[in-house]
Amino acid sequence: SQNIYILAIESSCDDTAAAVMLNGKILSNIVATQKIHEAYGGVVPELASRAHQQNIVPVVDQALKKANIDKSQLSAIAFTRGPGLMGSLLVGTSFAKSLAYGLDIPLIDVNHMQAHILAHFIEEPDFVKPPFPFLAMTISGGHTQIVNVSSYFEMDVIGETIDDAVGEAFDKSGKILGLGYPAGPEIDRRAKLGNPKAYQFTKPKVGGLNFSFSGLKTQILYFIQKQVKANPNFIEANLNDICASIQYTIIGILIDKLKLATKETGITHIAIGGGVSANTGIRQALKDGEQKFGWTTYIPKFEYTTDNAAMIAIVGHFKYLEGNYADQRVMASSRLKI
Ligand code: KG4
Ligand code: ZN
Repeated sequence: SQNIYILAIESSCDDTAAAVMLNGKILSNIVATQKIHEAYGGVVPELASRAHQQNIVPVVDQALKKANIDKSQLSAIAFTRGPGLMGSLLVGTSFAKSLAYGLDIPLIDVNHMQAHILAHFIEEPDFVKPPFPFLAMTISGGHTQIVNVSSYFEMDVIGETIDDAVGEAFDKSGKILGLGYPAGPEIDRRAKLGNPKAYQFTKPKVGGLNFSFSGLKTQILYFIQKQVKANPNFIEANLNDICASIQYTIIGILIDKLKLATKETGITHIAIGGGVSANTGIRQALKDGEQKFGWTTYIPKFEYTTDNAAMIAIVGHFKYLEGNYADQRVMASSRLKI
């Protein structure tokens, strides 16, 4: 049978990434993370777009080199069409289009949110793939969704955030506490050293399977301001407890919604994806759910959870098998839906 080589490109936010896949297996997976945004405490779209322009050629070259293949061996080029920042998406989209045109091979457009979910199907020696149907919870700095997945391309969003993403809840809380950007990993690290019940925050009252995190952020802001007024050293003296309490609240919100989703759908296989799934507390809570609620949980390898091109490649691979290609008129779409 024929070998399928996919070159995939991801540029939806602040990571420029390229990967090469052979028959569903990753040969190379390169990510250039843009450090420039740290100084601004968040992603600056204009700077992200410019950094993608600088990074894309070296990142693609590196991916091909690491995979030890020549461009002429490629079967197709897959790229992230959306959702994401328009200026960022445009760089990957135009690059992918010209490369596919120049090599005269198929061009395949990929939905970034579908890719976070299908990352679970990358061929890896000791990876257990979720069986259909399963629930996917995508949690990152840009997204918070619960998706009912019936097959590779039949996905139904059954819950999502009505305001901030869960990663923003981590990052904005961190900003209030004077932590660097992104603050998620630092809050995670400190949470392990603190008491999760030291401070109580109330969970948002949002109906059904939807999420809301902006109220929590405001609640934390007012709480901290009040405490600091009484004791200027409040943050320094209690940072680990504050982080543990914030993380505990956020995890509680996610787990409550998963419980409701499993109840409503009867599906107990749960796969997670997105940068926040690196969080040790969330991983533990999911494992606990296996004992407590009879769930089976799936957590992908770390490099496949944050934004990466390997996940774009696996979607490209599946679409290639179906002959589902894009044409040269395809345009980036910042609000692309699943
Ligand atoms: O998927 P990702 O790399 O990019 C997108 O936002 O699409 O996710 C980045 C987000 C940031 O908000 C970051 O703070 C969060 O993931 N994050 C974490 C952890 N590692 C990354 N949040 C909590 N705990 C972590 N260990
Ligand atoms: Zn993402």
